Amino acid sequence: MTGGRPAADHIWRMQAKQDVDYPIILTDNLLDPNNPALAEASGGGTARRLFVVDAEVHRLHGDSLIRYLDHYGIDHAILAVPVSESTKTLETARQLARDIGALGLPRKSVGTAIGGGVLLDVAGVAFSLLRRGTPYIRVGTTLLAVIDAAFGVKVGVNDDGQKNRLGAYYPPRAALLDRAFLATLPHRHLVNGAGEIVKLALMLDSHLFDLLEQHGKRAIDAAFQPGDDDGPLAEILRRSVGHMRDELAANLWEHDLTRLADFGHAISPTLEMRALPELLHGEAVAIDMALFAVVARRRGLDRGETDRILGLLRELGLPIHHPLLSRSMLSAALAATVEHRDGRQRLPLPVGIGQARFVDDVTVDELADAAEYLAARAETTAAGAL
Ligand SMILES: NC(=O)c1ccc[n+]([C@@H]2O[C@H](COP(=O)([O-])OP(=O)(O)OC[C@H]3O[C@@H](n4cnc5c(N)ncnc54)[C@H](O)[C@@H]3O)[C@@H](O)[C@H]2O)c1
Repeated sequence: MTGGRPAADHIWRMQAKQDVDYPIILTDNLLDPNNPALAEASGGGTARRLFVVDAEVHRLHGDSLIRYLDHYGIDHAILAVPVSESTKTLETARQLARDIGALGLPRKSVGTAIGGGVLLDVAGVAFSLLRRGTPYIRVGTTLLAVIDAAFGVKVGVNDDGQKNRLGAYYPPRAALLDRAFLATLPHRHLVNGAGEIVKLALMLDSHLFDLLEQHGKRAIDAAFQPGDDDGPLAEILRRSVGHMRDELAANLWEHDLTRLADFGHAISPTLEMRALPELLHGEAVAIDMALFAVVARRRGLDRGETDRILGLLRELGLPIHHPLLSRSMLSAALAATVEHRDGRQRLPLPVGIGQARFVDDVTVDELADAAEYLAARAETTAAGAL
């Protein structure tokens, strides 16, 4: 006995390393038979391959997908899955895992998930659970997926009123990003994805912020499709994917909970869930960014820069306020984030365009004050006194 505790009989150690190494491929016209990227990434051999496709994407692009697979002589099964934030649940993932299992595909065959962040999250959970892990690749078809959700290792579903409460770290074999899909994406979802790009620009890259000010609205109106003066549009996408990759790669398993990529995600998870199905993810993130930009202003951020942040959000068509931002809601949302971040706020605050610092002492009073300011400002396009 040592200190009253029985000594262990013996201690073994279990040690292994899991390598993570997969390509994130930004390519044009993935479903054009002249582009072999999808045929190559979705696995070799003659075995039947599985494609799990967002039902709306299947409606719009299913014929092209089938033509593409036929062109390469790929024997395939396609599951078209209707999904939404409200049905991003374990039940949906479990049903999908059952449907995949019922196809009786070879154990090592690689599945392909094609869709926006919701489909990729649900399919990711299904693939992570089926036989304790079935290999798969991710193809992003929304702006949010192209610049974020398609290429990280996180998969998840909402549960118990909480966003992404259940999930896993489950790396894909490859991620494919193609802006051609964005041609059919509704305008509101383009704006939604732009919210996450503003986040990256504000935290990390003043040049990207400049590009958004000069070309962001045009990029959204053109659904990021190539055309005259495509350089800035392509650069916005490339820089966004690059920054997001860098942020994720440096902290893939989220051992460090102090993350710049969490800007815009302090009160937005609670707001998004409470406002379901009204608010989209990027819209809730935009409201959160606006709120913390005002908090940052009160703590010394230059007024002109604060105006640029709020001005850009509005110029791109993003909301900066929501009636649910009551004092009690803000208090609950902040508490949930502190719990999620292991007992500390770890809040990134902009100190300039493209620069941030972390704080742990934002008060509910500050948030309520900022929300009040934004409620008034949302009513008018004129700049108020910050
Ligand atoms: N796992 C991650 O790393 C990660 C990262 C960021 C966000 N997310 C999650 O992503 C989700 C939001 O994803 P989203 O914004 O892509 O929304 P979404 O997946 O709901 O897609 C938006 C809508 O567009 C439709 N759609 C998809 N592609 C289309 C296309 N090319 N043309 C026409 N319609 C199309 C969908 O059917 C849906 O109705 C949230 O649940 C968020 O939590 C996950």
